[in-house]
Amino acid sequence: MTRYRKLHRVRFGILSYSSTMSYLLSVTSSTRGEQSWSNKLLSEFEKQFLEIHLGASIQSRFTGDIPHLDFAAQIAGRTPLEKHSPSDTAAFALSNELTDEVIGASALVVATPMYNWGPPSSLKAWIDRIINVKSFYKQTGQLADLPVTFIIASGGLYSEGENMKHDFLRPLLDECFTRIGVQDISFINCDPAGPLDRGMVAHDSPESAYIKAQKQIPQAVTRIR
Ligand SMILES: Cc1cc2nc3c(=O)[nH]c(=O)nc-3n(C[C@H](O)[C@H](O)[C@H](O)COP(=O)(O)O)c2cc1C
Repeated sequence: MTRYRKLHRVRFGILSYSSTMSYLLSVTSSTRGEQSWSNKLLSEFEKQFLEIHLGASIQSRFTGDIPHLDFAAQIAGRTPLEKHSPSDTAAFALSNELTDEVIGASALVVATPMYNWGPPSSLKAWIDRIINVKSFYKQTGQLADLPVTFIIASGGLYSEGENMKHDFLRPLLDECFTRIGVQDISFINCDPAGPLDRGMVAHDSPESAYIKAQKQIPQAVTRIR
């Protein structure tokens, strides 16, 4: 599909990319709404993305609505689709929908807080739903051209310095998405966000983690073809 898009673009140079782009899949995990640094940065990312890809669409997914895998969904997610019983098909329905949403996207952006040195459990529930027989147990190369961006907010500084060894979030995300065949992964880091929430640093000051993270957005957006 992606290869076709590129050929199509070269052959008919007048077509803008957005006319063949499917959608940006935009995943959020923070429950803090407009107070969330990762949500604010995601809004900015989407705005810049739409400025470049005129007419492109955005599909949003909030992980807080995704239930953890029950036993039936676990079994169904590891059973080849051609062997699915009607009850497997029913148990796999949500995972199927979420996986197809990733496979069908032209780009993926995930905005998330760090919770207890890792992902919020709802983001992990989403990951547990999208890694399955369709995406992992049978490698198809279908995600090889998917650019993936993670926007991460944490109270402390983990993207650089002494605390990096305590960061289990970025390594986990990198491992999970590399395992399902993603080759282009980029991080936008909003840390330390704690001083912003505590009013110790103004959100618009040069030392603000939010301002520093904002500056990382253009490069992440413009790499999406
Ligand atoms: C349950 C919970 C666990 C947290 N664990 C960490 C942590 O391990 N390290 C850290 O630096 N901040 C931690 N924080 C702080 C959040 O990462 C921080 O508030 C971040 O800005 C939240 O993202 P958001 O602004 O997008 O909502 C935690 C917050 C909560 C509520």
